[in-house]
Amino acid sequence: MQSDSQYQTLILGAGAAGLMCAAHAGPGVLIVDHARAPGEKIRISGGGRCNFTNMQCSPEAFLSGNPHFCKSALKRYTQWDFLDLVEQHRIAWHEKTLGQLFCDDSARQIVTMLCDEARRAGADLWLQTGVVDIRHDGDGFVAVLERDGARLTVRARNLVLATGGKSIPKMGATGLAYRIAEQFGLPVTETRAGLVPFTFGEETGLKPLAGIAVPGRAETAGTSFDEAILFTHRGLSGPAILQVSSYWAEGTPVRLDLAPGAPIFEALRAARQQSGRRAVATVLAEHLPKRLADHLVQAEGLTGNLADQSDARLRALCDRIAGWELTPTGTEGYRTAEVTLGGIDTDALDSRTMQARAVPGLYAIGECVDVTGWLGGYNFQWAWSSAVAAGRAI
Ligand code: FDA
Repeated sequence: MQSDSQYQTLILGAGAAGLMCAAHAGPGVLIVDHARAPGEKIRISGGGRCNFTNMQCSPEAFLSGNPHFCKSALKRYTQWDFLDLVEQHRIAWHEKTLGQLFCDDSARQIVTMLCDEARRAGADLWLQTGVVDIRHDGDGFVAVLERDGARLTVRARNLVLATGGKSIPKMGATGLAYRIAEQFGLPVTETRAGLVPFTFGEETGLKPLAGIAVPGRAETAGTSFDEAILFTHRGLSGPAILQVSSYWAEGTPVRLDLAPGAPIFEALRAARQQSGRRAVATVLAEHLPKRLADHLVQAEGLTGNLADQSDARLRALCDRIAGWELTPTGTEGYRTAEVTLGGIDTDALDSRTMQARAVPGLYAIGECVDVTGWLGGYNFQWAWSSAVAAGRAI
């Protein structure tokens, strides 16, 4: 065992929240991470361009046991504050859609920016360092770490949990923050995969539709999103599906509108009058991808051409297009989920500082906390805002 190192603040996790916190937490900061490189999820995010925030960021875009919890941090470090930082570092950016801001060039620029900021603040960064044990000896936190096969002890007044959630274990997600939180008596709410594709059984017959994408509406439990819907070999994906997956409860249906607002019933009736010998699917394919049109006509059991269809049958077809109810068998789980829903119970934390109410010096930030954003840059904004709240308080 090597001799002790003494730090003011030990941050576990050199991801989005950990690096950002280091930049704001004053002197004497050590960040440790078991990965080979910092900010790996940032690097792969947004298709390699990092959707780093959202111009429309507001508390309504977050799920949590306490929907008010995120308000203070989001208000005190906003999307505009982060955008200022990006501009200070001369990183070119653009809005893609729905307020989502991306780097023009590479997500690596955001990682570099955060590492530069943490280094400028004087933080040390130890990579490929595992956490063996953490305890509090009455005076401060004592961490036993493992690095290059050797164990070393680090003492720190403050401990910041920033090891993220459980999504994508292949990238090093471990759930360590939850275990340490529980060890110190902080409750952890049930966790599950969020922003994740749905899977369906063979009997749903969706397989032939794999590869089709439509701009649509997905709804579950009264919450809906208008964005692309993608049929996959395993089920459903695309932004609208990922968004509703966070609101979905097992065993309940998801309702799809495959052409929101399109006057398809009127179009079919008009076509029936003008050229009743046309096939229903041919006319439908003017509004939907051909393969999808064929599938829907077949699934609705419509035989013959347009002239053979009553208003009631055309209406039934349109009702299916506008309200196709499907009950997923499950989701693809943490293997592909973008985020983890649930986490360290916000009741145990001070919303201004992210400090544990019952454990002075213990902080939790980022994805490990029970605050989960929509798709579109919201989760990174939560990482930045919660990290700055803790950093300033330290
Ligand atoms: P994060 O996961 O970033 O960091 C945790 C760190 O802790 C990691 O470096 C990890 O190695 C380390 N760690 C974990 N366990 C450890 C242990 N036992 N010991 C030591 N270190 C440990 N969000 C968004 O807003 N816009 C986007 O474009 C995307 N895109 C996106 C794509 C993909 C594929 C995924 C999986 C996720 C996204 N997200 C996203 C979500 C976003 O990546 C996520 O919300 C943040 O990275 C959370 O930041 P944290 O710092 O909390 O965790």
